[in-house]
Amino acid sequence: MDKNFYITTPIYYPSAKPHMGHAYSSIIADFFARFKKIDGFSVHFLTGTDEHGLKIQRAAEKKGQDTLKFCDDISETFRNLSKTLNLTNTDFIRTTEARHKKSVQNLWKELEKNDDIYLSKYSGWYSVSDEAFYNDDEIEEHNGKKIASISKSPVEWVDEESYFFRLSKWEKSLLDYYQKNPEFISPESRKNEVISFVKSGLKDLSVSRKSFSWGIQVPNNKKHIIYVWLDALTNYISALNYPDTNNELYKKFWPANIHLIGKDILRFHAIYWPAFLLAAKLPLPKKIYGHGWILSGDEKMSKSKGNILDPIEIINKYGLDPLRYYLIKEVSFGNDGNISQERLEDCINSDLANNFGNLCQRVTTFAIKNCQGNIPKDIEFNSDDLKILDKFKDNLELIRKKIDNFDLNFYIDFIINTLFETNKYFNDQEPWKKKGDIKRLNTIVYTTLEIVRKISFMLYPIIPKSSLNALKIFSIKENEIEYSSIVNNNYLTGGSEINKIDILFKKIEKDNND
Ligand code: MSP
Repeated sequence: MDKNFYITTPIYYPSAKPHMGHAYSSIIADFFARFKKIDGFSVHFLTGTDEHGLKIQRAAEKKGQDTLKFCDDISETFRNLSKTLNLTNTDFIRTTEARHKKSVQNLWKELEKNDDIYLSKYSGWYSVSDEAFYNDDEIEEHNGKKIASISKSPVEWVDEESYFFRLSKWEKSLLDYYQKNPEFISPESRKNEVISFVKSGLKDLSVSRKSFSWGIQVPNNKKHIIYVWLDALTNYISALNYPDTNNELYKKFWPANIHLIGKDILRFHAIYWPAFLLAAKLPLPKKIYGHGWILSGDEKMSKSKGNILDPIEIINKYGLDPLRYYLIKEVSFGNDGNISQERLEDCINSDLANNFGNLCQRVTTFAIKNCQGNIPKDIEFNSDDLKILDKFKDNLELIRKKIDNFDLNFYIDFIINTLFETNKYFNDQEPWKKKGDIKRLNTIVYTTLEIVRKISFMLYPIIPKSSLNALKIFSIKENEIEYSSIVNNNYLTGGSEINKIDILFKKIEKDNND
């Protein structure tokens, strides 16, 4: 079995500081990276910044700053955000790095060599904000201004000499590929959008611009700058040292298991990128997942709309793990989701503090008092205990399968339901009434502790810091977390010491308007 896993986030434009949408893409990617890691995979997790193109050049000009200095500063805030979000990314790529430039120019030469690039003239619409070309039928008028119907971004007319990529030539191959690889694009509804767009006919794609300078030059024609999306998409292989396809990183991790992206950039990833790769005779990534948007007041967040939610503000107020938990649980994966402070507070109070935190405190306090502070030794499971313990064993493969299908919703539901059942189990078994039957009391405590361990393992990809705090009860360290061990019902060693832990989540006092 292939035990390598390569996951990528989109590389973010450093045109403004990071917002909740960026944090969302990164946190979701981190969830999968962490899960795969504890499931024994060697994981490569890439994120970074997309620094070329007119959008960035203009943003720097507006601030009166040198473009590279401008990128250095904002790219740094994205790098810092990765740390603040506790991401386990193994690389952070900037498209202004030499390794990337070399890779892009090589890919260009490859496309040229295979006769997939030719020089002509582009006359048409371009949105700097999306860095995208649009057909006439994709444009509408708003307050006398032309905008792109999909994104509502302003467009401008471009009329200049340009290199073209023979995208039309790959139309049939792409359709064949989608058909033979039904898992390639997810979710299903997004796949259908892509297929109908390709079926409606692909035009050759303009892949260079002459009217500005901020970008990677076309090899052998310095007047042309390579189209920023051809440049940006290549990051996924330049981080693996392409064009050296014989090096360990590339051999181990290409093709990527998943490019996780927002639905707004699906066309670039599911049409252009595979076409470039086909033309360069390189393998295609296994999956493109277009997640939904984080909405702010029912609209996609954007600088121009002035409705940006700042992840740092939320983290400062509530902490990182509650935000990670909330985004993973409340935004049904694949769909859009609205961020609400009230729902976030509900999640902290009911799921994290009551359901998980309280269970951990209750069982440790009870064990410290009634089991001499040790994990009970003399135990004998009955059918009530095994019913709840075996849930993990029975679902181990199913959970793996769901994760491979990127079904995050199933994973989190499993955790919430199990926590609920465990709290009920502890209440129903009434260990405080079993002081005359020590073996039974011990077994109830052992079972509950064992479930706290299993659930903490499962929570690790979602709320890593809190999971590790809970595992301090058993002195279990990060490198000892192994997903497969959740099936083991006798994992905890009887007789070893139980540690008292600090409160995991503080409840939020809600304003009472009654
Ligand atoms: N630079 C390109 C991506 C190049 S990838 C080769 C880009 N950058 S971006 O900064 O504008 O946005 C990157 C990603 O951030 C989006 O695809 C999406 O994943 C995420 N989001 C940006 N706004 C978002 C929301 N409001 N909600 C959720 N995610 C969104 O596009």
